[in-house]
Amino acid sequence: MLHKKELILRSVRLDIVNGVFKPGQKLPAIRQQSEKFNCSVNTIINVYHQLENEHLIYSRPKSGYYVVAQEAHRPSNQKKRIDFSAAAPDPQSIPQLEFRQCLNKAMELFEDSIFTYPDPQGLISLRREIAKLFHQQQVFSSEQQVFIFSGAQQALHLLAGMPFPNGKTNILVEQPTYWGMLSALEAQKQTVIGIERTSSGIDWSTLERHFRNNLIKFFYTIPRFHNPLGTSYTPAEKQRLAELAQAYDVYIIEDDYLADLETNTKADPIRAYNCASHVIYLRSFSKVMLPGLRLAAATIPDSLIPVVSMHKQTADLSTSVLSQGVLEIYLKSGMYEYHAKQMRSLYSQRLQHLRKVLKEVLPTEYLYSTECNGGIFSTIQLFDSNPGDLVSRLENRGVDVLLTDQQFLTSFPKINLLRLSIMRTNEQDIEEGIQIISAELDRHKSVSSSQKPFFWL
Ligand SMILES: Cc1ncc(COP(=O)(O)O)c(C=O)c1O
Repeated sequence: MLHKKELILRSVRLDIVNGVFKPGQKLPAIRQQSEKFNCSVNTIINVYHQLENEHLIYSRPKSGYYVVAQEAHRPSNQKKRIDFSAAAPDPQSIPQLEFRQCLNKAMELFEDSIFTYPDPQGLISLRREIAKLFHQQQVFSSEQQVFIFSGAQQALHLLAGMPFPNGKTNILVEQPTYWGMLSALEAQKQTVIGIERTSSGIDWSTLERHFRNNLIKFFYTIPRFHNPLGTSYTPAEKQRLAELAQAYDVYIIEDDYLADLETNTKADPIRAYNCASHVIYLRSFSKVMLPGLRLAAATIPDSLIPVVSMHKQTADLSTSVLSQGVLEIYLKSGMYEYHAKQMRSLYSQRLQHLRKVLKEVLPTEYLYSTECNGGIFSTIQLFDSNPGDLVSRLENRGVDVLLTDQQFLTSFPKINLLRLSIMRTNEQDIEEGIQIISAELDRHKSVSSSQKPFFWL
């Protein structure tokens, strides 16, 4: 049988969770509750303390107890969906308890910094840890060159609008590419040139021509597990890029957002190829940690440090100390390494399964970039003149996918691709989802008799 205190605790907790007491509302006074529940004042005090520990209520001295917030509302009867569209971590795969512990520890360890505005470049102790992490990837830099950003998106946005020491003004991007970079460039009205990147890479003579003739300030590239293609450059291609960048005084923004998922220990970033003066090496922590922490780190060539410092400070004074603290504790304790290893293995199994199922189920003409050997994405090519219609039909059948049209510059000839992400799927989802995609592709095959890709300008 439950103790009286437990019964009262449950009753008050339920009233908070069910919204009988709303956030900000004062709870009945202790004496009033003790009369209502026919118990001692101490029992109610204990109940309120317990609810305070659960962060459901807080006390205001000489006033009483108030509701903090209701439990998050999680709809339980929502129909299951197969989500190939999400590029954010699977909540099931995140060790939430560990993160909570790190968050509590960060409050304690970084108490002094929380009450001030810290270094805009990032906590020096964290930058030291990041420099060590980068070393493991053959990216050698000092903590003075490391910057912490509020997500890779912030870094991209700031870099997009900055003057660069080469004095050039145009920006070269792969086509397709990460939509967030395209929107940052568009918002800042930058002059952007696209270079096609297909499942087999880019055309090197075109790249060199752009570098030579088109006043390229920087080339934004996602060499590893490209978004949306999922493919990677070979070591020889990365070396060539590094050489061209130096030869033509073009900077490279190397967006290594999925470095943690690399299974090939020999796959070094471009920055490892002796080109520290021209490469901004950028890592996001959103894909194996929590995107909500908004954390990324970059190593910046010395010539850019003053201008990056100035822009970062103007943008937000500094990245959240609490988030930085969590990352530092996570890195120092070894939790990061352990968790990244788990994620690497989980996502790699899922991607291999996706590749296998795609090959078994879909005719080869649809398989566009399905030979990726890591990361989270694969793409299939569509020959339908109305791909949006296919996406809606899939949505109605419970399958979420992403068309890559937002990942092209408006002026660039588009190829119709469906991006498939394995982040929030499991093997069963993959099998069911690809069968549904196959059925829908078949249904509309007759609409387009041509097997050629569909382009528009
Ligand atoms: C290639 C690429 N770069 C950068 C980002 C943004 O990362 P962050 O969450 O660190 O801002 C994303 C997000 O999906 C991405 O796909």
